[in-house]
Amino acid sequence: MPPVTPRVPVVVCDMGTSTTRLGYAGNSAPTFELPTVCAWADPLSYDTLHVGHEADQPSRHAVTHHRRLVDHGTVADWDLYEEYWRHLFHRHLCVESSDVGVVLTEAAKTAPEQREATAEILFESFGVPQLSMGSQALFALSSVGNGADTGLVVLSGAGMTQVVPVVDGYALDGAAQHFQIAGGDITQYVLDSLREHTRDIAAERAWDVAERVKRSYLYVAEDAAKEMAQFEADPLAHVLHHSEVHWRTGHPYAVRVGRERFLAAETMFQPALLQPRWTTALPGVMDAVVWACPMDCRRRLYANVVVCGGNMRFPGLTKRLERALRALLEKHTADFVAASNGATGKPAEYEVRVTDCSRDRNAVWKGGSLFGASARFAAEAVTRAEYQERGHFSADAA
Ligand SMILES: Nc1ncnc2c1ncn2[C@@H]1O[C@H](COP(=O)(O)OP(=O)(O)OP(=O)(O)O)[C@@H](O)[C@H]1O
Ligand SMILES: [Mg+2]
Repeated sequence: MPPVTPRVPVVVCDMGTSTTRLGYAGNSAPTFELPTVCAWADPLSYDTLHVGHEADQPSRHAVTHHRRLVDHGTVADWDLYEEYWRHLFHRHLCVESSDVGVVLTEAAKTAPEQREATAEILFESFGVPQLSMGSQALFALSSVGNGADTGLVVLSGAGMTQVVPVVDGYALDGAAQHFQIAGGDITQYVLDSLREHTRDIAAERAWDVAERVKRSYLYVAEDAAKEMAQFEADPLAHVLHHSEVHWRTGHPYAVRVGRERFLAAETMFQPALLQPRWTTALPGVMDAVVWACPMDCRRRLYANVVVCGGNMRFPGLTKRLERALRALLEKHTADFVAASNGATGKPAEYEVRVTDCSRDRNAVWKGGSLFGASARFAAEAVTRAEYQERGHFSADAA
């Protein structure tokens, strides 16, 4: 994608469940990172709304509502979405929306209604001249740097875990799947466990405490059963005490962190720990996604598995995924040999390589930035005139 000077500046926005990343195409990092949170006092308007960090401290303002704008990757309230964008344009970017093109990142299998509602607001309420919505997985793969345009992307944030095959620079949305567990579910698990042992956690800040514990101490065990046996044999040797200060009283207190250190992230390998009905683990979903793709690209997908997003940052996760995928492939091979009853030769072996890109917290945004600064944006973005002429955003919408 050779970079060209865009006709208008292009704003790139990755609006995640926990964080909105916002800035200009061509830059190497977003200019703004703010919690995707809104707080307001009735009636909702531009003047009564606080967003981002301001909204995250509702006690500082006279607000009657406080909510996340995006729930599991889906916009929860369109009036609020419009006012949120008004803040992004006017208070953060300080631009006229009619003077900038926009690139939005989009999750796999986004409902067409969500795409159309988004386009309507950006074209009709804000008059943006050009708009493009691109696959988050494709953006992440294009920005993480090994130059490959084919790979199996696992993108797991606060509200969504998507497993998306990207082949020759195209995200195969039909074969993509969502896995039920994302970062918010793991934080909730940690919080529930901590509350069993520590009564002092102030309800208003309990989520933040669980987040800090999660980011500081959790890991993925090589073998959870062995880890549990070691823990049970000598719990005191394995328990940590995390120091906190009560946000209102200022009193220090300790939070006991025990088996949740390895059990919380284990839920991605044994989802029944969270919900007995969930039987397919993350490696199983990844394997199913690869096998739903055309045969000639499966080998390339297994050879370049890329994990991104904040919820993939647990130490030990990449190794465990690699091992689990190899075990699944060995099982396929054994099943194949058994089914063919020795009539065919040894099936081809697959290489499995998992690359951890989770430390690049802005990988998706950066891919959007590269795209927004390229000739492809100019060629592929829908213009306002095109939108108004055909009456919908997606070329294939009814
Ligand atoms: N060091 C860490 N260890 C484990 N989890 C982490 C770590 N750092 C961040 N997270 C988790 O990552 C999640 C946020 O990731 P990210 O910023 O990719 O999500 P998002 O883009 O806001 O949401 P989504 O893409 O799901 O809509 C949160 O659940 C957070 O707790
Ligand atoms: Mg995200």
